[in-house]
Amino acid sequence: DVYKRQGQRADLVVVAPATADLLARAASGRADDLLTSTLLTARCPVLLAPAMHTEMWEHPATRRNVDTLRGDGIHVMPPAWGRLTGADTGAGRLPEPADIARLARLLLDGGSLPWDLAGKNVVVTSGGTREEIDPVRFLGNRSSGKQGHAIAAVAAARGARVTLVTSSDLPTPPAVEAVHIESALEMRERTLRAAAHADVVIKAAAVADFRPADVADSKLKKDSGSEPTGIRLVRNPDILADLVAARGSGDVPADCVLVGFAAETGDSSGTVLEHGRAKLARKGCDLLVVNEVGRGTTFGEDVNGGWILDSSGGEVLVDRASKDVLAGRILDAVAAMWSRPSGVSAADRTD
Ligand code: CTP
Repeated sequence: DVYKRQGQRADLVVVAPATADLLARAASGRADDLLTSTLLTARCPVLLAPAMHTEMWEHPATRRNVDTLRGDGIHVMPPAWGRLTGADTGAGRLPEPADIARLARLLLDGGSLPWDLAGKNVVVTSGGTREEIDPVRFLGNRSSGKQGHAIAAVAAARGARVTLVTSSDLPTPPAVEAVHIESALEMRERTLRAAAHADVVIKAAAVADFRPADVADSKLKKDSGSEPTGIRLVRNPDILADLVAARGSGDVPADCVLVGFAAETGDSSGTVLEHGRAKLARKGCDLLVVNEVGRGTTFGEDVNGGWILDSSGGEVLVDRASKDVLAGRILDAVAAMWSRPSGVSAADRTD
């Protein structure tokens, strides 16, 4: 009875490590020890972090058990790849404690982790681009990359294949392929390349609108006594607009969902939401995540809030929450677009 109450009272149950044997026992609903009876009585989110030898993880029986558990709404993390307890190396290593804790926090904060993105190719951009002036200097901005990394981490945790095109130095989330770039031109090239096979491209990066027209080959020196010379700027391509255009011409799949971000403040010409709607129409993307900025919010912080607007007029308000929770809400909005009968073609919709 004591065991039963543990499960009933819990806000979250995490099993780390979850062995192949535990997965099998939990999948079949056993309740003959403390752990399995706790799992069977739990009505809260359950997070399992597997650890076992590669052969065990890949065995059809374990695959079946993992599918059953995921179907029951239990979150089974993919194990990490690396050195195992014996001399062997491969898939089956216990995920890093920080990665387990991150998903535990997301579940405790009210986020969900459905296994709904398996088989999807998700491309995310993050961070502020760096536009070179000379070999040691660049023009940059305050974007930390946290929101984009959060989207990549949560998408991978929901089963997606994720490519993260980033200028940020944040650690790469597990099961995410990071492509490190610096400038807007590099980001454009690598994002378009990844977009050729993408089901969705989420443009969380803060791309510099301008770059220096001339990049010095060697470090610029301050000539004693002379006035500083100006830096002439030229416009960078708009990567999101190029993705929208490429979707029509075949370089990006016709049904690829395109998601933009906008940092807005209200002003005399409109509210944050009005500016967001106008930008969504101007950019031609399917979803726009609008953050209200300007009061020391958003950049570099761990929380974020705003609206998710879609091109058929829908809007979802997201209260200030962790960037991982917002990431989940953005992915929910993307998944909702995929489940629409008319796909991304909002103009065809009648509802
Ligand atoms: N973006 C892009 N390429 C650029 C500039 C922006 O792909 N050269 C993308 C960003 O990644 C983001 C969205 O476009 O998803 C932001 O749009 P933008 O019009 O640049 O918004 P703001 O930076 O808010 O600019 P504005 O001053 O026009 O309001």
